[in-house]
Amino acid sequence: MTKPKILVARAVFPEVIARLEQYFEVESNQLDETWSKAQLMAQLKDKQGAFTTGSDRIDGEVLAACPSLKICANMAVGYNNFDIDAMTAAGVLATNAPDVLTETTADFGFALLMATARRLTESEHFLRAGKWSKWSYDMFAGSDIHGATLGILGMGRIGQGIARRGALGFGMKVIYHNRSRLDAALEAECKASYVSKEDLLKSADHLVLVLPYSAQSHHAIGAAELAQMKPTATLVNIARGGIVDDVALAAALRSKRIAAAGLDVFEGEPVVHPDLLSLSNVVLTPHIASATIPTRLAMANLAADNLIAFFTGKVPPTPINPAALATK
Ligand code: GLV
Repeated sequence: MTKPKILVARAVFPEVIARLEQYFEVESNQLDETWSKAQLMAQLKDKQGAFTTGSDRIDGEVLAACPSLKICANMAVGYNNFDIDAMTAAGVLATNAPDVLTETTADFGFALLMATARRLTESEHFLRAGKWSKWSYDMFAGSDIHGATLGILGMGRIGQGIARRGALGFGMKVIYHNRSRLDAALEAECKASYVSKEDLLKSADHLVLVLPYSAQSHHAIGAAELAQMKPTATLVNIARGGIVDDVALAAALRSKRIAAAGLDVFEGEPVVHPDLLSLSNVVLTPHIASATIPTRLAMANLAADNLIAFFTGKVPPTPINPAALATK
């Protein structure tokens, strides 16, 4: 029997490619070339399945060019690179990689929060530049984590992991805002109180963004929201670029409207707005919140599990749009 053809759109672990090769005729971008949309469509046009990452956009144009495509398995929990409505209409199943990255990503959210509040990278750059000549009482004074109010916007699994770390590890008061309120038992377990978005902005000493990107969350933090935050506040974004208006944030950081920001994601990444690059009160990392080898391997294997289940007649473990199965 001929094996289904799949495309692995980016370089991934060789052992995952080897696993996929047991089931599929695999074409993979192991050289990790940056493909244009036209190149992606050319590579994908004769394939039945795709292993994608958050950088690979699958929209109506791609779907129209790839009539054999039946499933796209994203090696990411976020899937704003997928046009889900177009995929469902075309009968293309979308899957993502939730759960396996939750704790690793929550660890990183906390690391970025601490680095930002305690001015870790700024002080390290100062030291490396040979500028440290004497101790002084307020040198790189930052803001406390312990006992502070931690605000979380977006209280899914990763938000809950950050809440637990803050409340249980650092004695923080945790407040959150989310589309829907957690049930009482989960709120109690996370030691988190539900507040309005306005109260979250006004009360948080540290505000961490963990909500998914969508048209509704585009620029959820812009000039108006930044104006409501404490001047001593820090803002951390480990969610998606575009949730924060980067230009408004750079202006707020420059004028010290808020104290500092930690950003792992950017509008238009991998390009970072030059205004952010020139500021010292921002910690910048290249979208690495889930980047530990065991977690990235688990994410890749979960994407592979979805492809293998789909083509062997089993139920894929983490479908996003099961309605697509009824379409084709
Ligand atoms: C990373 O950003 C992911 O969505 O998994």
